[in-house]
Amino acid sequence: MDNLRDLLVHSLQDMYSAETQALRAMPLMAEATQNAALRRAMEQHMKETERQVQRLEQVAQAMGVQAQGEECAAMKGLIEEATKFMEEDATPEVADAGLIAMSQKMEHYEIACYGSAIAWCRQLGEMECAQMLEETLLEEKATDMKLTQLAENRVNEQAAG
Ligand SMILES: [Fe+2]
Repeated sequence: MDNLRDLLVHSLQDMYSAETQALRAMPLMAEATQNAALRRAMEQHMKETERQVQRLEQVAQAMGVQAQGEECAAMKGLIEEATKFMEEDATPEVADAGLIAMSQKMEHYEIACYGSAIAWCRQLGEMECAQMLEETLLEEKATDMKLTQLAENRVNEQAAG
């Protein structure tokens, strides 16, 4: 990698891997919850994530590169952690509180990635790409906020017993 453009391409490929891994994990996480509102939020974000994957393909295409090519080790680790957590013996309420936290860890990683990528696009004058990634970033932030609301009202309280 010689320049910021190379770094951006590398990061886009990492994010493409992260989103596709997340997309595979999400149905299992949605299935693991007993909470209807949480399941709805997860299913809604699953649909958004399908579009986010397509958006990354469009951004890569606009930059003349392939979206495939990297494996995101961070998302792989987060999903491994979530998978292990789902195998734990926990009450449904505690499981839900944990699932929210696991989902937010995944969201926060994505939010960090998109924030950097958008800044790099702008620096490179790739304004259309920045705009597309900004749409995704807003969805990630909205999902994160929704998860916080569900935790605070009132999954955490139920888990406290
Ligand atoms: Fe995402």
